[in-house]
Amino acid sequence: PLLLLIIMAWSVHLFSASSSKLVCHMTNWAQYRPGSAAFTPENIDPFLCTHVIYALATINDFNQVVTVEWNDQQMYSSLNSLKNINPALKTLLSVGGSVKGISPFIAMVAKPESRAAFIKSAISFLRNHNFDGLNLAWEYPGHNGSPTQDRERFTLLVSELSQAFIDEATEIKKAQLLLSANVAPLPSTVDKAYEVNKITAHLDFLNVLTYDFHGSWEPVTGHNSPLYRSAVDTVSQMQYNINSSISHWLSLGAAADKLLLGFPTFGRTFELSGSANGLGALANGPAAAGPYTRTEGLWAFYEICDFTNSATVSWINEQAVPYATYGKAWVGFDDQRSFSSKVQWMTANNLGGAHVWTLDMDDFRGSFCSDEAYPLINHLRMSMGFAPKPTTTPRPTTTKDPIAEFCYGRPDGLYENPADKTSYFQCYRGNTYLHHCQPGLIYWDSCKCCDWPAKASPIK
Ligand SMILES: *[C@@H]1O[C@H](CO)[C@@H](O)[C@H](O)[C@H]1NC(C)=O
Repeated sequence: PLLLLIIMAWSVHLFSASSSKLVCHMTNWAQYRPGSAAFTPENIDPFLCTHVIYALATINDFNQVVTVEWNDQQMYSSLNSLKNINPALKTLLSVGGSVKGISPFIAMVAKPESRAAFIKSAISFLRNHNFDGLNLAWEYPGHNGSPTQDRERFTLLVSELSQAFIDEATEIKKAQLLLSANVAPLPSTVDKAYEVNKITAHLDFLNVLTYDFHGSWEPVTGHNSPLYRSAVDTVSQMQYNINSSISHWLSLGAAADKLLLGFPTFGRTFELSGSANGLGALANGPAAAGPYTRTEGLWAFYEICDFTNSATVSWINEQAVPYATYGKAWVGFDDQRSFSSKVQWMTANNLGGAHVWTLDMDDFRGSFCSDEAYPLINHLRMSMGFAPKPTTTPRPTTTKDPIAEFCYGRPDGLYENPADKTSYFQCYRGNTYLHHCQPGLIYWDSCKCCDWPAKASPIK
């Protein structure tokens, strides 16, 4: 039994690589966008992010985790099958949203027995669908109809959840479920929503939603996700930036390595109402909705790519982010350069990594921006210093390479390497990836995993 435990402990660590996290959100409503903007888990590059968060599931009147879309279960399965291609990938289910404008967390956290029912339901739901963890998407405790005591109730929820995850992992001898939360960026909101020093220890990571700082609800143009304050900020807006937001979290005692900086793959738009078209120019609501996202006030990066073909793009020096304007339309967005500045800031402050909202708003097919697929997130990954993704052996032009051809015509999945037991092939969309087991281990097709050579049968 001791040996078994050692093997299991090692297996858990087999594929863990960089300590830094690159957590990417996807949304189950992006499937309804027209044409080449329609997004499902099949569009995810399994090697792009360290974690994928599936948004969104909700909580019903009986405090149970439940699906939202008709095909969620099918998409869960499609998302979680990416782990057969990249076994290091972790997936989390995000629970939250609102029901008739009210967060379903409010009723659930109010009573110990409702929290217990939710926690029990969450564990079985996550295990049944093969997720690795839970992400809490409550915007925010103590806000939008949530009473002030929800600040303390949120602490109870995360501490009870994390204890239940520890107990469950011990009982079933599996890797512990991960627990994360989407949390507020504005210092004034943070103060009312969280007991920061009490919640962070129970969470594996916190996604600070460092975007939506400015938008078409304001009377003048402002940037969605600026790194620093600007000279045109009013007194009340001086903290509407990444530097102020994360500094506040750190000053309240949040462990830097638990905080993930939010990277938006979208911009926020305005319709100009005067002749000025810079930062702080008069505006009157949002620009026309994008043809694919069809949401007023917001454009996906791939829609912005189209726009910048004709628009004038400017760089806001003091905020280290770009905006673009054409006619009456104005958009503050992020590009490769602003992502690089933010990564520098993130690294200098020793944060735990990045989270991206969302996979489906980057140019995920590479069909809009005359660049590779996922131009923003690939750039982010590279700026963060991740090792290059596994690549195919280049296709030979004259002589045939038997390894490169291994996966031609084979279904996606893992395969034995007949020439070498300590390595194995992974086929993904016809491409061949050669992986090596940890020293001492060999590949077993029976479990599609690396394990000790001496064992008689795979561990179930
Ligand atoms: C960033 O935030 C820190 C802490 O609040 C502050 O001292 C510093 O001046 C800010 N930097 C800029 C460029 O605004």
